[in-house]
Amino acid sequence: MNDQPSDMRSPHAPMWRGLMHAYREFLPVTEKTPFVTLCEGNTPLVHAPRLAEIIAPDIELYLKFEGANPTGSFKDRGMTLAVSKAAEEGATVGICASTGNTSASAAAYCAVAGIRCVVLLPQNAIALGKLAQALVEGATVLAVEGNFDDALKIVRQLCDKHPIALLNSLNPYRLEGQKTGAFEVCDALGKAPDFHAIPVGNAGNITAYWKGYNEYHAQNRISELPKMLGFQAAGAAPLVLGHDVDKPETVATAIRIGRPARGDEAIAARDNSGGLIHSVPDAEILQAQKLMAASSGIFGEPASAAPIAGITNLAAQKYFSQARAELGRKPVVVATVTGHGLKDPNTAIQIGGEPQVVPASEEAVLRAMQLG
Ligand SMILES: Cc1ncc(COP(=O)(O)O)c(C=O)c1O
Repeated sequence: MNDQPSDMRSPHAPMWRGLMHAYREFLPVTEKTPFVTLCEGNTPLVHAPRLAEIIAPDIELYLKFEGANPTGSFKDRGMTLAVSKAAEEGATVGICASTGNTSASAAAYCAVAGIRCVVLLPQNAIALGKLAQALVEGATVLAVEGNFDDALKIVRQLCDKHPIALLNSLNPYRLEGQKTGAFEVCDALGKAPDFHAIPVGNAGNITAYWKGYNEYHAQNRISELPKMLGFQAAGAAPLVLGHDVDKPETVATAIRIGRPARGDEAIAARDNSGGLIHSVPDAEILQAQKLMAASSGIFGEPASAAPIAGITNLAAQKYFSQARAELGRKPVVVATVTGHGLKDPNTAIQIGGEPQVVPASEEAVLRAMQLG
């Protein structure tokens, strides 16, 4: 048996070592930066023609499945860089407020780096899988009697006064890592999409994608920029309403945010790209979550389905037919599926329904299949 790991792999599939290695030239890393990585990134860009046929026949739809990252969400892209830089700067404690995915990711990367991780979560308002992740990954998990915005305020105050690494997307390294999602989309398509649809909560990710597209454009890796389509939940839509929301409410707990920290940048991404930020009601988000899973095989969490609900509405208003006529072909639309559906099993079971119980016999199964 050969003990060289490289010989164990197919020569056609060199090992992916994480986005910091792949996109190093675009990232603020130096020879002193330790690479704290779980080999994140390189997530699938899945063509979804069946889903498109149902919701928006005028588009070519692709799903960028960020649930395939090591902790099951896009947060790993920013966290690999943020924790690497924290380690470079000698941090011993990292902290974040979170609607769930940031805490799961921060806990994992801090575990790799040997940094103590403290996470502040809105009490009783995060999905079960995400809570389980942070707890099992060894973070100090504090359930704050308030919402995400309250928790983030405390985190900011603590980081102003103490030498603790801030791991929320206010940390610029988070966005630097997250922008690589846009690079991967362009690398996979060989160009930028015509539209990029994305859920918006604290507004870090839409800001990061727009930054990524602009950097690729500046380097002539793409010739056109996409229009950014952001989607908030109707009960937590400060950027659509034009003012903060004191008591944000939505089943999509990941985007249950009333004061987005990167709100101004999201508005700039919307306006500079010629895109839009709309809101979608919870019922449509849940319908879209089920439809996406059942017609594309991609099981995203509720927040990740907001763009699918939004695309459905835009298509009904003939938004894409106009783009199709202008382009002379179907516009290419990429939707970021930001987190894995398994993160939120309670909601999934609610929309999925109960299994049908049958006697343990061939006949009974055939009958249930309506074949016998
Ligand atoms: C699954 C999921 N989707 C979307 C978002 C929103 O991202 P952002 O806060 O960067 O707008 C989050 C943020 O927590 C998330 O966890």
